[in-house]
Amino acid sequence: MTKIREDDHVSKVIKIEGGHKLNGRVRIDGSKNATVALIPAAILAHEVVTIYGVPDISDVHALTEILEELNVKVTRAENGDLIIDPSNMENIPLITDTVTKLRASYYFMGALLGKYGRVEIKMPGGCDLGPRPIDLHIKGFEALGADVTYEHGNYIISSDNLTGNNIFLDIASVGATINIMMAAVYANGRTIINNAAKEPEIIDVATILNKMGANIRGAGTNEIIIEGINYLGGCNHEIIPDRIEAGTYIILAAAAAQEVVVENIIPLHLDSLLSKLVEMGVDMDVHIDSVTIRGGAKLEAVDISTNTYPGFATDLQSPFATLLTQAEGRSHIVETIYKERFKAVSELQRLGADAKISTGQAEITGPTSLYGAPVKATDLRCGAALVVAGLIAEGVTEIRDIYHIDRGYANLDEKLTQLGAKIWREEE
Ligand code: EPU
Repeated sequence: MTKIREDDHVSKVIKIEGGHKLNGRVRIDGSKNATVALIPAAILAHEVVTIYGVPDISDVHALTEILEELNVKVTRAENGDLIIDPSNMENIPLITDTVTKLRASYYFMGALLGKYGRVEIKMPGGCDLGPRPIDLHIKGFEALGADVTYEHGNYIISSDNLTGNNIFLDIASVGATINIMMAAVYANGRTIINNAAKEPEIIDVATILNKMGANIRGAGTNEIIIEGINYLGGCNHEIIPDRIEAGTYIILAAAAAQEVVVENIIPLHLDSLLSKLVEMGVDMDVHIDSVTIRGGAKLEAVDISTNTYPGFATDLQSPFATLLTQAEGRSHIVETIYKERFKAVSELQRLGADAKISTGQAEITGPTSLYGAPVKATDLRCGAALVVAGLIAEGVTEIRDIYHIDRGYANLDEKLTQLGAKIWREEE
């Protein structure tokens, strides 16, 4: 496996000289949040699984390291395909620091419990968005008959006889839905997940599992039914395009483009964003698998409230906040998924944004001219918000803690440079 820019994570900053109008085409990669579940899902198989369109992001590198700890053979082809061979896999406790590099390592709970009836794993890490409990995952495993203990920072989850059950999720959690689905594929009998999350990434995980031989129906609705089976074989699978990466490029084009085409998207997955952009007055045309955005339109303030899919994605709230600084009037943001996810708005204030933040809400008044200043990517999507800001700010914006950005945006510098942005990395 090649590892790109490992050194960038701690020692470099991204610098962006604002004010250059963007032109051209940008191609969206495979979905990060699908990939980070598809890779753990692949180890449920007993044969080779090939995943196409894997984004070159540090979360994938971390997951690959975890697979190697489990003695799974991983090969990254030149074109980005990931070939995962779990035929010599061993259920080794996942207690190294690699697990804490990303939140999605919790998918090894469901995958290893499902395959071996036992998993020992360190508490997962991930972006600091305020409290992010995993109680629903744990309750789901327990409902399938597993014993769960937490000792010295490690979870031990085990069962001699996982058995299907009716599970109602108090919150339609993406992670809990996927984790329970993975734990239930080999369980005896039928599992029904009620109030399941409906995000497109869940359909993608159910699709790969079904290609491997699982029997999962209803993914994408709020009731998922899993009939336990005995064996999962290999398969080939193409990841869905990343709707959050796509949304980020669409937003930055709305803020900084002359004319930009964002390619390899599924517009249906972006409906909530695209309809807000229309409401704001963004000049764009939506095609079957791309969108053309033209700059220069006068933007109007709008209100958004984040929600589970198909509502406005919380992951796009931060970059969208940057765009709102350019809209005429007062916009309101209500954040219903992570009430404390407003660190990006605080950083935008350093760049000149006129914003007020209260619990679960923010208010942005525009338009304001942003100016370059040193800021910090406090999490992945905060980083995205600051990149959008840097593109339109006067002067140079310097973004620190860019390892967050590299967790989720493949080839960001290259893609933006190709569009005509002035972006580079420097030693801190
Ligand atoms: N929640 C609980 N208990 C649980 C699980 C979740 O209370 O056991 C709460 C959370 O605290 C949150 C809400 O339920 O308030 C929704 O959380 P969810 O479980 O759906 O989120 P997640 O699976 O941890 C994924 C994405 C996030 C994205 C959220 C919401 C991945 C790896 N992460 O997280 O993506 O914000 O769904 O859509 O898929 C990102 O990409 O930047 C990112 C943070």
